[in-house]
Amino acid sequence: MDRPEYGIIIKAKEEIDMDLIEAIKGRRSIRKYKPDPVPEEVLKTILEAVRWSPSWANTQCWEVAVVKDQNVKSELATVLSKGNPALSSMTDAPVVLVLCGRKGVSGFYKGQASTVKGDWLMFDTGIAMQSLCLAAHELGLGTVIVGLFDHKKAEEILGVPQDREVVAITPLGYPAAEGVAPKRKEISEFVFYERYGKLNNQ
Ligand SMILES: Cc1cc2nc3c(=O)[nH]c(=O)nc-3n(C[C@H](O)[C@H](O)[C@H](O)COP(=O)(O)O)c2cc1C
Repeated sequence: MDRPEYGIIIKAKEEIDMDLIEAIKGRRSIRKYKPDPVPEEVLKTILEAVRWSPSWANTQCWEVAVVKDQNVKSELATVLSKGNPALSSMTDAPVVLVLCGRKGVSGFYKGQASTVKGDWLMFDTGIAMQSLCLAAHELGLGTVIVGLFDHKKAEEILGVPQDREVVAITPLGYPAAEGVAPKRKEISEFVFYERYGKLNNQ
């Protein structure tokens, strides 16, 4: 059932072809892309997923730069080191999304940080990025979160103002090759019960 009035496509239960757990487990970092363009409606649905992400006191500090121009993509690719495995995807993918955040908003009350963590910008933009990647995956598109790059240089290229910062980048497009799932830790290796260090729920 399409509900364009919400700006997203809402499917009836019987039409849902991927459940959430399957999507979370099946999403992979995609580093090889087809040049096929991403339809505007598809891009909009992915940006809707960012829009509906949770954030500190609903502050929604995220901002997304949508880059399709090959020259800007090539310039952005220069911020990655030669050894970054996502380097070629920056120019191969039809779209590059740069996730930015407004500073001093998330985790702040009346200009003061509310917790010892200071700015929760990284947390909120991280959630937004996961929403983005999962929505893209559900729609058959690939992403790879890129965090290892020269952030200052990326901000210069995009003309990001002082009160904002670039957090992460992802190429977006149709996968040309599937990703391989790196091994995960067992639940028993990262879950504690009652107090830190108690590994077994016995
Ligand atoms: C914050 C963050 C930064 C990352 N930076 C890079 C990067 O710079 N280059 C890259 O190729 N992959 C990068 N990745 C992708 C991870 O390597 C990948 O998510 C991880 O190996 C698990 O693989 P999967 O995404 O296929 O499950 C990054 C992932 C995250 C969450």
